[in-house]
Amino acid sequence: MQQSSASITAERKHSHVEICLHREVRFDGAATGLEAYAFEHNAAPEINLEEIDLSTTFLGRRIGLPLMISSMTGGYGQALELNRILAGAAEKYSIPLGVGSMRQALEGTSHRDSFAIVRQAAPTAPVYANIGAPEVASGLTRDQIATMIGMIGADALIVHLNPAQELFQPEGNTAFRGFLDRLQAITASIQVPVIAKEVGSGISARVARRLADAGVSAIDVAGSGGISWQKVEECRYLSQFAHEDRFSPSALDELLNWGIPTADCLAAIRQLKYEHPAYAPLGVVASGGISNGIDIAKSIALGADLAASAQQLLKALHAGTLEKTIETWMNDLRAAMFLTGSATIEELKQAPIHKKH
Ligand SMILES: Cc1cc2nc3c(=O)[nH]c(=O)nc-3n(C[C@H](O)[C@H](O)[C@H](O)COP(=O)(O)O)c2cc1C
Repeated sequence: MQQSSASITAERKHSHVEICLHREVRFDGAATGLEAYAFEHNAAPEINLEEIDLSTTFLGRRIGLPLMISSMTGGYGQALELNRILAGAAEKYSIPLGVGSMRQALEGTSHRDSFAIVRQAAPTAPVYANIGAPEVASGLTRDQIATMIGMIGADALIVHLNPAQELFQPEGNTAFRGFLDRLQAITASIQVPVIAKEVGSGISARVARRLADAGVSAIDVAGSGGISWQKVEECRYLSQFAHEDRFSPSALDELLNWGIPTADCLAAIRQLKYEHPAYAPLGVVASGGISNGIDIAKSIALGADLAASAQQLLKALHAGTLEKTIETWMNDLRAAMFLTGSATIEELKQAPIHKKH
């Protein structure tokens, strides 16, 4: 029997969670570039630890700390429970949450509750809809966009750019031509801000500039150093077509690790904003391999407004330690702020940071 596109998409979303939880799919060496930076220690911080304020603003909304739960899932049975728990944490800490790609919910109506649950469990936190660049390039209708936004009462629409993932995905869609024009038409016509994100191969300053010109309000760099989506899709490819090599072995190694490290994306976009003040209002999210609160602090000092995490928070959820993990990251962040004399996130943005020798 032929499977519907909605059920193929649902199966894929399920296998992504399983692979990200149980297989070794991080970039070789797992280097985000953040490890190469160190803050200048401030021996006279002139603040009291308990005065430190972690709250900040993103896309015009006050949030409890500069952390977002990255877009992950929805569109199959067990996703409802995962999204309920993630949304509960987003509500508790007043932080933004992205749902996974809503393509499945446009292809069929089964499992729409696995997305809608997010707004029920997070009535006041910012929640963001999500769709892929190939769907944008092939032309989303106004109705489809309204369906996604309405399903979760979305505060923003995230469009993910994932050419390396689609390249490796057995059933991938590599038709990216026309994406930027279509994106521009969307940003010009919808009522909520649009965020453009990668999924782990990073966004260069050159591409950030084109995305900003197309009207996006923020860029989530999703750089290399965390999950390699090439590796995730290679696992799926090999389970279907064992031993059928697509690439030369030496090229495969390079392709599986293809991407711009998270810290390099941040530094380049900060430079772009500095050299061209017209881009200064562009929001910046640091993600790709964020694994503690010091990573969040360094990201902010390198120009991000907040950081975002997917795989580490998914693993914590699976281990039953999601809230404990977020609270530990808050302690890490507070520690970095104390030791740099930063009472607020705005002050942390100015904290001296340098590349280690
Ligand atoms: C299980 C899982 C599913 C994901 N699905 C999506 C998705 O549907 N849309 C999207 O934009 N990103 C998706 N991502 C990518 C993340 O949002 C993030 O950009 C990427 O994993 C890098 O962050 P990390 O290193 O903290 O995991 C997914 C990540 C995980 C772990």
